[in-house]
Amino acid sequence: MPILSRQPAFTVRRSDFPKDFVFGSSTSAYQIEGSSFGGCGSSHWDSFAASKGNVANFENGSIACDHYTRWEGDLDLMKDLGLDAYRFSSSWARILPQANGETNKEGLDFYDRLVDGLLERGIAPHLTLYHWELPSYLADIGGWRNRDVGDYFADYAEIMIKCLGDRLASVATFNEPWCVTWLSHYHGMHAPGLRDIRAASRTAHLVPVAHGKAMAAMRALGQEELGVVLNFEHTSPYDDKPSSAKAAELEEGILNRWFLSAFTKGKYPDTVLDHIEAYLPNNWQDDMAQIATPIDWMGVNYYTRTLVSAGESHLGSALPLSITHHGGLPRTEMDWEVFPEGLGEILCWIRDNYTHDTPLAITENGMANKDMLVGDAVDDQERIAYLDAHFNSALKAIDKGVPLKAYFVWSLMDNFEWSFGFDKRFGIIHVDFDSLQRTPKASYHALQHMLSHEKPH
Ligand code: NOJ
Repeated sequence: MPILSRQPAFTVRRSDFPKDFVFGSSTSAYQIEGSSFGGCGSSHWDSFAASKGNVANFENGSIACDHYTRWEGDLDLMKDLGLDAYRFSSSWARILPQANGETNKEGLDFYDRLVDGLLERGIAPHLTLYHWELPSYLADIGGWRNRDVGDYFADYAEIMIKCLGDRLASVATFNEPWCVTWLSHYHGMHAPGLRDIRAASRTAHLVPVAHGKAMAAMRALGQEELGVVLNFEHTSPYDDKPSSAKAAELEEGILNRWFLSAFTKGKYPDTVLDHIEAYLPNNWQDDMAQIATPIDWMGVNYYTRTLVSAGESHLGSALPLSITHHGGLPRTEMDWEVFPEGLGEILCWIRDNYTHDTPLAITENGMANKDMLVGDAVDDQERIAYLDAHFNSALKAIDKGVPLKAYFVWSLMDNFEWSFGFDKRFGIIHVDFDSLQRTPKASYHALQHMLSHEKPH
């Protein structure tokens, strides 16, 4: 079946998944809330977006989906959909807007109400602490390049757990450390927009250090179900050349192994370390035990594959950066190839080589589609086909014994897709960014149908 073809309903049934399997949907604070409301402080995403050229159409998250005021309606949509769980993030800049360390009570109350509202509707809350909006006063002292920011992060984690911890189903420290570090400090695509190998290497170590510190702070409070969310791409050489194989190995090391290996084994892969050790902070080895403090679960974000050949670094640095290519597969609106098999394969690979019995969750999977609102409907059958193929792939991994416990669709609603602005629509709910009206898409209805039929016994 060609994945981008039209498909009216899921071929998988809920009963194909294990009895206690959790279906949810994901969002993040800066992408949906509206950073100009409720005493939220400035973050490095506000300033990154304020410089022309960084975000498509010069857009930003100041209003986004206005979820900050419309959250109750959004929760009702989740309940009608029949979700078991919701993965959201708290905005650090909303909780601690100023350098003086004072908590913004209004911000904390917002998440308090949100969590209660979820529970009242029978939806389990899964919190992510860092989904990218670093407070500006911390960016001013060097952001993740500065080791002290990890201590501030642990303080923020403590505040969130003291307020919400008794009602959370799980907590993740970071969302996609690769994006926080390499995409933001080497490729310059995300805030703070740097293209600097030293900055990238330091943050690739200091973000895991911050994770370790926050884990310790939360464990000390007795919090359970702690984890981290990593992004993976199915990575292989573009062709038969030995140079492509080498380039793919390095790319895979940076993308798929660096953080995974650090968090689960307390080791960085040599293939990457050989290139960047010179830029790491002194005595980095002393941090590895804390970085590898045991997690209770790991989140997997999966969207696409990448094919790699050798190329020059755009920075001319010590790191021989690779060139990524497309193969012949259909692509989404992000220009990402659709490769569902990759999801099941990666889940098995993670389990076999790194996480073993530790429970895994698919914390993000979905596609950007050219969705058109016609009347009051959006017929996004390409998304139904995309999700269906990935559900099937996940089922194969479950059949092979992977302890996969949950599947969160990205995203509940169309939102601010970072440097791509509002053009790339990932939601199963359409958002009109002028009126802010929500319209469930065909994929929402298909999922609703799947979730409401054959509820597990
Ligand atoms: C990963 C990120 O966590 C999320 O913020 C983003 O919108 C999606 N991928 C789609 O690019």
